[in-house]
Amino acid sequence: MSKEFNIIGIVGYGKIGRIYREIFDELTAHFLIVDPKMDEDRENYIYFSLEDVPEEVFRHVQAWNICVPTENHLEILSEILSRNPRAWIIIEKPICLSFEIDSFRALLIRYPDAHIVGNEQYNDSLAINELKDFLAKTGIRRPELIRIEFSKDRRPDIAAGRFVDLHYGLLGYEWVHMLAILRNLLGERWSEYAYAPSRIWPTFDVVQFVSELEEHTAMSSGTKVELRSSMIGNYEYESFLPVDQLVQHRYVEVRSGSLRFMLQMEPRFKTQTTGGLFENLFRIEEGDSVLRESSIHDPSMPRFLQSTLRHLYEHAESPIEIDWPFMERIISMRQLLRDHYNQNKPGALEQVKTELLHQTR
Ligand SMILES: NC(=O)c1ccc[n+]([C@@H]2O[C@H](COP(=O)([O-])OP(=O)(O)OC[C@H]3O[C@@H](n4cnc5c(N)ncnc54)[C@H](O)[C@@H]3O)[C@@H](O)[C@H]2O)c1
Repeated sequence: MSKEFNIIGIVGYGKIGRIYREIFDELTAHFLIVDPKMDEDRENYIYFSLEDVPEEVFRHVQAWNICVPTENHLEILSEILSRNPRAWIIIEKPICLSFEIDSFRALLIRYPDAHIVGNEQYNDSLAINELKDFLAKTGIRRPELIRIEFSKDRRPDIAAGRFVDLHYGLLGYEWVHMLAILRNLLGERWSEYAYAPSRIWPTFDVVQFVSELEEHTAMSSGTKVELRSSMIGNYEYESFLPVDQLVQHRYVEVRSGSLRFMLQMEPRFKTQTTGGLFENLFRIEEGDSVLRESSIHDPSMPRFLQSTLRHLYEHAESPIEIDWPFMERIISMRQLLRDHYNQNKPGALEQVKTELLHQTR
């Protein structure tokens, strides 16, 4: 099979970098991998740092992927651009630390011919699109309630040495995905949500900064939005799947009158014999009756990443934009949480469920 790319670069070859390699395997003949922890790999170009990549190899890399811990994104981006001002780069989320935003924007201005895209695989999730189709068919434009809860116990990963986001805490993990889903559901009403005041309940954690967070927002047009995320695996919004069948809880619910639209996203991993990766379970209930149950297959991350690279390849003149509204939202939320954390003793905070008021400035 002929491959569309000759060399794709991956900087940071941990959990997410290895997933990228699997995803891009069908697109490229070779990888260039940069990671100080790499073992020998005869099939690819392996380097411990970007500096070690010789010029004659560097210039043949057609697209770069930045999968290092978030605190290293900006330095890696800057280094790639200094060596190739027209580089095509996919950068993992969150794109940079909160105080680096101005430097990040300055890089975009300094390198106008570069194409830089932030990864957000839920931007055009097929499962969410199907949920939206059903809402439209049922004539629901302003549901009473939208609930999204993403919860996963990250402690085993942390114990195994995987990067811990101490800067954003939980906001750097599932929260960005939840916002992407919410924006897709709200469409043009997104700004009404994004600039409304929200009540939030954080749980602070000495290891992970914020390990649980709940947010309630009443939109002026009548929709209540409830978001919840936990990095220790707790969840409160009940699914229709038994708990012991879930490897992670990625749950979306929309209510209107007696109708409930429910989506349990990717509840299983392929390593489990029970089911397929990328399966999303969709259910519509009216009162006690189940009106519809279906499964939506959607490899959202491979689809997003592969189509992004193909887009760069085929339409290099019309780049995809960085998602600034999400960054604004998580940065202002982080600031509020950090200020509160710094003004209090962490030990005392862990015992108290504090309510705070958040508003994006
Ligand atoms: N889109 C998603 O769903 C998703 C999921 C998980 C993580 N992420 C993001 O991906 C990024 C990486 O997270 P992870 O979970 O894969 O972390 P990880 O700890 O598993 O891997 C990070 C790797 O980067 C390497 N590294 C560190 N500094 C480096 C440098 N200067 N040059 C080259 N390599 C370097 C480390 O040795 C490690 O192997 C983070 O920004 C995270 O927020 C995104």
